[in-house]
Amino acid sequence: MKPLIAANWKMNLDLTSATQLVRQINLIKNEISNVDIMVFPSHCYLSLVASVLNQVGAQNVSEYAPGAYTGEVSAEMLKSCGVTHALVGHSERRHIFFETDDILTKKLYQLKSVGIVPIFCVGETLDQRNRVESVIQHQLQPILSFDAPYIIAYEPVWAIGTGQSSTPEDAQSVHEIIQSMVGPGVQILYGGSVTESNLLNLLKMPNIHGALVGGASLKTESFTSILNIASKYEQGALI
Ligand code: 13P
Repeated sequence: MKPLIAANWKMNLDLTSATQLVRQINLIKNEISNVDIMVFPSHCYLSLVASVLNQVGAQNVSEYAPGAYTGEVSAEMLKSCGVTHALVGHSERRHIFFETDDILTKKLYQLKSVGIVPIFCVGETLDQRNRVESVIQHQLQPILSFDAPYIIAYEPVWAIGTGQSSTPEDAQSVHEIIQSMVGPGVQILYGGSVTESNLLNLLKMPNIHGALVGGASLKTESFTSILNIASKYEQGALI
């Protein structure tokens, strides 16, 4: 499977900078065919990104079917804007917006009804590190009964936005647990302070199939380097 490099812009960038960045990403994409590239912008830039890239992700989706839910964005709306993938269970949604397993299950159901592929996120907090296996096993429950294609992102909460990535070996040991639960065909991304400096060693791990990049995806230079490293590694030029 090709490595997948996904940019999670979170709640960043204005329209001008989002437009410039996605154009730059498209230029690089035209030179790199051995890496899958995906961008997760804010909802208000989804159509813009979808007009440039063929793989576009939503950072969130409503748990409800269309109707009187002021401020919400339904899976159908996302689909009509060209969205192909959506994050579900990101730690910021779990912790800041108190999304429970029940809510995540409803979101998965909405996505499935329109054929958007979820990227289901799991990851332990610092306090949970000594029991990471049981935390991850518990968090995976909503996706285990999902009977359509999906991707997993392992993002240790203590590594997100801290500059302190997991070591490749530690990440691999969790990816191996996840793979044993979801089966061999499912792609598993690593996320949490991924940069051009640590990506290569992460990609060398057998169960790390790509990266979900936050901060380092917001600047053309760093994201371009990340894409080039993934491409060269895939070519066998960086072993
Ligand atoms: P950072 O790369 O900024 O640590 O963010 C990771 C993340 O949360 C991606 O979804």
